[in-house]
Amino acid sequence: VKAKTKAAKEVGIDVIDHHLKESTNQNDLITLINQLNNNDDVNSILVQLPLPKVINEEMVLNSILPEKDADGFHPLNVGKLSISPKNDDNLMIPCTPYGCLLLLRELNINLSGKNAVVIGRSNIVGKPMAQILLKESCTVTTVHSKTNNIKSICRNADILISAIGKPEFVNKDWVKEGAIVVDVGINRISTNEEKSQLVGDVQFNEVKNIVSAITPVPGGVGPMTIACLLRNTIIAFKKSKKI
Ligand code: GUN
Repeated sequence: VKAKTKAAKEVGIDVIDHHLKESTNQNDLITLINQLNNNDDVNSILVQLPLPKVINEEMVLNSILPEKDADGFHPLNVGKLSISPKNDDNLMIPCTPYGCLLLLRELNINLSGKNAVVIGRSNIVGKPMAQILLKESCTVTTVHSKTNNIKSICRNADILISAIGKPEFVNKDWVKEGAIVVDVGINRISTNEEKSQLVGDVQFNEVKNIVSAITPVPGGVGPMTIACLLRNTIIAFKKSKKI
């Protein structure tokens, strides 16, 4: 959240951070969102997830006006992502998967027809990632904690996106030689001396030797998520000004 705030301020976006008490209940949160929905000076709203278990996440996300939905998590925006044509510049697309697509585009390869495997089926990353890659004409498989033969499916991937949140879960035996690996995981593990370290879902050091491209953690997908959040905010601003 700090990095999001810093990046927004750097490009001239005013940020109001409502850092709420742990005791905040669902009604209080939705009341605040309604106030922000009705405030013409506010163009874009983000509720950082996960929320405490006592709060119904779906109801909270549904209460954000779709045109102010910085994350693209409102059902209307989720639906638009699945049915709108490719390259619709006005779509509020979930930030992390869109950031992954922008990274893939940097490689200047033809994505059409590629076998893309997405590990994880979250609403934040896995599901929208699969939609986005499908629009790029990839052949998309989503695998998750209940998938049979998960390793062999991953080994078949030309593009492997891991968003499962398990530290160094994917090792070199899961990855095809020459594949492209995008590591969405940000996992904090404790090392000795009571210190902790950030690692991805992928064993970077061994996988990097067999792939054609791989993102590091930290510093790979994370900054792209923030960049795409700024993009969505600008789209929301332009919509509000009818630009
Ligand atoms: N928690 C983890 N990733 C995200 C994200 O992209 N948006 C929000 N709102 N919460 C998150």
